[in-house]
Order: sequence, then C-alpha cells, then structure tokens
Amino acid sequence: MALEFSIHRTENPTPDAEREKILEDPAFGQVFTDHMVHIQWTEDKGWHNAEVVPFANFSISPAANVLHYGQAIFEGLKAYRLPDGSIATFRPEQNARRMQNSARRLNMPGLPEEDFLEAVRLLVDVDRDWVPAAGGEASLYLRPVMFATEPTLGVHSSKCYSMYFIASPSGAYFTGGVKPVSVWICEDYVRAAPGGTGAAKCAGNYAASLLAQTQAAEKGCDQVVWLDAIERKYIEEMGGMNLMFVYGTEAEGNVRVVTPALSGSLLPGVTRASLLQVAEDLGYETSEERITVDQWRQDVADGKMTEALACGTAAVLTPVGRVLSKEGEFDVNDNEAGEVTMKLREALTSIQHGEAEDTHGWSYELVPADK
Ligand code: COI
Repeated sequence: MALEFSIHRTENPTPDAEREKILEDPAFGQVFTDHMVHIQWTEDKGWHNAEVVPFANFSISPAANVLHYGQAIFEGLKAYRLPDGSIATFRPEQNARRMQNSARRLNMPGLPEEDFLEAVRLLVDVDRDWVPAAGGEASLYLRPVMFATEPTLGVHSSKCYSMYFIASPSGAYFTGGVKPVSVWICEDYVRAAPGGTGAAKCAGNYAASLLAQTQAAEKGCDQVVWLDAIERKYIEEMGGMNLMFVYGTEAEGNVRVVTPALSGSLLPGVTRASLLQVAEDLGYETSEERITVDQWRQDVADGKMTEALACGTAAVLTPVGRVLSKEGEFDVNDNEAGEVTMKLREALTSIQHGEAEDTHGWSYELVPADK
C-alpha cells in the first residue's frame, strides 16, 4: 500500500526577497529549500512516518551503523520550470529504480517506486517557489538519500533506516559556461572492481574517489578518469559522470557516439541512457564498447575520434578537452567544445526544459501550470 505523507510546513520560511536573490544565480548544491521529506524504515513496521517537514539537522546516535560501516546510498534528479509555468522532472522512475538496485547491493530496503515519486512530487510542490525561472540553465536539484541508523557496532545490516529528500536550487555544476574540462587518467587507484559496488550509487564510491580527485587537481586537472580494476586499461567513467566519445563529423555525415559498455563496475547513468537515445534521434550511430586509453589517444591522433564528453544529471553534458596521464597529454578537438557535443546538449536540455517535443514521454509533471 502506498505511504500516506503528512505535511508540516515551516513557520519560518525564507523571506521572498532572500529566496529570489538566491535564485538569480544559484551555485551547485550550496543552498537548500525550506522543507525536506523524511521517511523511516524498521524491521517491524517497514516504511512508515512519511512526512514533509521543515529542513533541519538530524539527530543520530554516534553508534549509527552508517557512520561506521557506511550503508548510505543516494540519487540525483532535477525539477525544471517549463515555459508554461508548470514544473516537471525528468525520468524520475529511472532514479527510483536505480535507488532500489543500489539498496539491493548494499543490503538495504528498497523504497517502492510510487512512494519515491510521491516524495519528489510533494517536496517540489511545497517548495515550488524555489524552482528557478524557465529559460535559463538553473533547476531545482533533488537529492534522495538513505542511510542506516541502527546504533550498534556489530557488523551487520542495519535494522532501521532513514530516507530523506532534500532540494537545492542549482546552477551549472562546472562554472564558466560550457567549457571543456581536463581529466587525469588515474593509474594508482581504482574506483570499483567486478562484483564490487561500482554500479550502485553509494556514498563509499565517492569517498574512494577523493584521493584521486586531489591527485588530479595537483596535476592541474578538473576530474579523474577511472580505468577498469583488472587490466587497468579500459575506460570506465569519470566518477560522478559517464563518458562518451564522438567519431566522425556532421559534415561527413558519419557521426558515431560511443560510450563505455556497462561493466558492472560503472554507474548506469540516466543521462547516459537518455543521450544514447537522443543521439539516435539526431541520426547518429551509437554503440557501447570497451575502449582503452591507448585507443583514445590513437583515435584522436588519427583524426578518427573528434570529440569527448562527460555526462550526468548534475553536470548535464560537458566537453572533455584535455587528457593527462603518466604517459603524457593530448587534446581532443583542440580543447574546444565540439559541434556534436553541443547538439546533443541542446537536444537533451530542450526536452528537459520543455522547449522541445518530448517524444519519449520522459518529462514527468510535478506541479501543474495553474497552481
Ligand atoms: C549527479 O549527477 O546527480 C550526481 O550524483 C553526480 C555528483 C554531483 C555526485
């Protein structure tokens, strides 16, 4: 049976002028709306106590399982204000299902899809004034999270969990417009191994990436590119974003968009899957393949690979312009944003923002125009 949510509105909402100022130019994930959704799970009651409450700190035991053994998973999706004034999100059922898969891998309970969707709808409805205006890049980023709360030091799956949804008006993940990022090919560490948690969106994957991210920054790079754990040569993902490679050119009419095949250790991105479809809609060939760093370097040198890009919910789609590794460095497309990258970006964001026909039924209305 679907959960019944109760709604407790804050008595101290952010003043209109302050909120409007924030919405003029939001950064990524810095400011949070007035409310959040909170749901609890226990062995005896299952999911219960579903409520919209004022955004506030949690109080948890210092012995809570999550703080010791790391049972924590999350998702990321966005709410957009459409030109007609309504508010929609993009393929939220995909996030609900991926969160269930992440929960399964971390041996946590899955929140039913209908409850996930209702939580998203209620939060955005209550905080609808926080959704940035139509016409720009900004949106309301939604972050569902689940973590283990049982206060125990025994290593076992928690007997109780908290699930919450928070919302943050957000602009571009990478500041400075659509500017190519530089990447460091990480050979010293791996993000995920076959049979591990790489395909789950769990907090630990991100924690494990931070040392390499610092190494990348020391090399002057924006991001890390992860290789497979066994042969240490196949490109997996950027960590937080999937990668795509463009072969051919628009002028020659032979564009092929290639992305690393899902290996079990990389995250099945919603943006990744959507872009593969958008690429086909634009008449490009697509394929999911295993691709090595050597092939990346060689195909760029041979002029076969023309562009590279990273994609994810937060960053949408960002060109990858410079690649550094212990073997040296090379530029892709002269470190410029490429034509196909920009076309893909425009095609996807126009569907998300309700500016293009939604032929695949991806847009999901959260708040109607007249509300
Ligand atoms: C997203 O793209 O939504 C992500 O979760 C990536 C990152 C911000 C953690």
